[in-house]
Amino acid sequence: MSDVRGSDTVTKSLRGHEGSAAFVVAANRLPVDRVQLPDGSTTWRTSPGGLVTALEPVLRKQGGAWIGWTGAADEELAPFEHDGMQLVPIPIHAQEVEEYYEGFSNATLWPLYHDVIATPEFHREWWDSYVAVNRRFAAYAAAIAEPSAVVWIQDYQLQLVPQMLRELRPDLRIGYFLHVPFPPAELFTQLPWRRHILEGLLGADLVGFQTNGAAQNFVRLVRLRVGHKTHRDTIYLEDGRSVVAKAFPISIDSSSFEELARQPETAARALEIRESLGNPKFVLLGVDRLDYTKGMPQRLRAFGELAQEGILDPAEAVFVQVAPPSRERVDQYRRLRDEIDRLVGRINGDVGRIGQPPITYLHSSFPRSEMAALYRAADVMVVTPLRDGMNLVAKEYVACRYEDTGALVLSEFAGAAAELKQAYLVNPYDINGMKATMLKAISDPPKEKTKRMRAMRRQVMEHDVDKWAQNFLEELELIREPHGKRTRPVD
Ligand code: F6P
Repeated sequence: MSDVRGSDTVTKSLRGHEGSAAFVVAANRLPVDRVQLPDGSTTWRTSPGGLVTALEPVLRKQGGAWIGWTGAADEELAPFEHDGMQLVPIPIHAQEVEEYYEGFSNATLWPLYHDVIATPEFHREWWDSYVAVNRRFAAYAAAIAEPSAVVWIQDYQLQLVPQMLRELRPDLRIGYFLHVPFPPAELFTQLPWRRHILEGLLGADLVGFQTNGAAQNFVRLVRLRVGHKTHRDTIYLEDGRSVVAKAFPISIDSSSFEELARQPETAARALEIRESLGNPKFVLLGVDRLDYTKGMPQRLRAFGELAQEGILDPAEAVFVQVAPPSRERVDQYRRLRDEIDRLVGRINGDVGRIGQPPITYLHSSFPRSEMAALYRAADVMVVTPLRDGMNLVAKEYVACRYEDTGALVLSEFAGAAAELKQAYLVNPYDINGMKATMLKAISDPPKEKTKRMRAMRRQVMEHDVDKWAQNFLEELELIREPHGKRTRPVD
């Protein structure tokens, strides 16, 4: 579907907000989602995923506008204030939801950027829709940004926006941050539109990644496929402009999570949770969007085998898996849901007793206060994605363990593993390895667990999301200053 929305339409839907924001965040989703209640009325609910957890406190602090989609198709809404934030909804048509969001973003890019765990699909109509929606985001950002404003574009759904926006508004400072992994050249080059994506990203002054490896993959690809000169983290374009690509590991609002965990109501709720679970000796917890990158089947299988082999007694050790629904109309996600339903049913059927299922599986999302109580209730947090940009759940757990107790089992393939080195690290494909590590995380002496948790807490409490945003935005400022401009190396 081609984009027929001209700048007049954009101006009309912004209704007097043009040129009003000195700081703009552009993300596929707004921080709140429009949801329909059973009685037909609609309400706002916090959007899923780590991106919102991280960026919401940043926008609240900085002030400015957040442009994004409400999660409902064909909805035209004027900009509005929500919880102290200026939100600018972007309309997405029903066919674009299928082609741009479910299609190109989540059935092409998502699997391609996550080690092709699922097979990416390449469809030309999906690409056209991706281009059209990216163009719309660029038009809205260009219209709402005041002269020389900072625009910070987020994630894989909007990789063409930096270049499109630069064409419309060369006066802006443009930052881009990728929340998911950036794949090695060997995988990325499968993409028929690889050069367009690289050039799209090069419209930014600063391109941020979760890890050094991801930033290096990008710089290498730009050198190989676009032919620009590069030196370490800097890319030199023909027009004299330079682009910096480097790692800025994202984080959470650590102290607000700790504060929540410390509240007496949270402690009381944590006790209640343990009681409802039958007061077992050990509670293991998993919290993930229901996504095939998160390694849920492997993790449940590992725990299930420990119970089936009698190594863990279901009366003593239980697993709580929270898995909020995600992208439910995409095929691979539907299949995963069926697989998890079957797996949990089988394990509980095999080793459960009356009132004592070894696995409690919750296919819903919960407010932050309930999550903090779950983190407090859990002796072992199990975060074992097959590939993950960062994984903020791991950091949330650590932030909530203010007594330096508990243990984190963490996949080597989560970006968080680079920072949380004292976690019990596992290869999530290795079921025996995971079984052994879960047992170690359960049975290590408290002194050992405290030593590990203390070190991880130092990292998470010191490197919070404020610092992440500050580091990124300061670097962005530096790049565009005439004295800060990086000069092209001599041939
Ligand atoms: O970074 C991962 C991410 O795709 C975010 O962009 C997004 O907000 C979150 O996961 C949840 O995904 P979705 O918006 O598709 O529900």
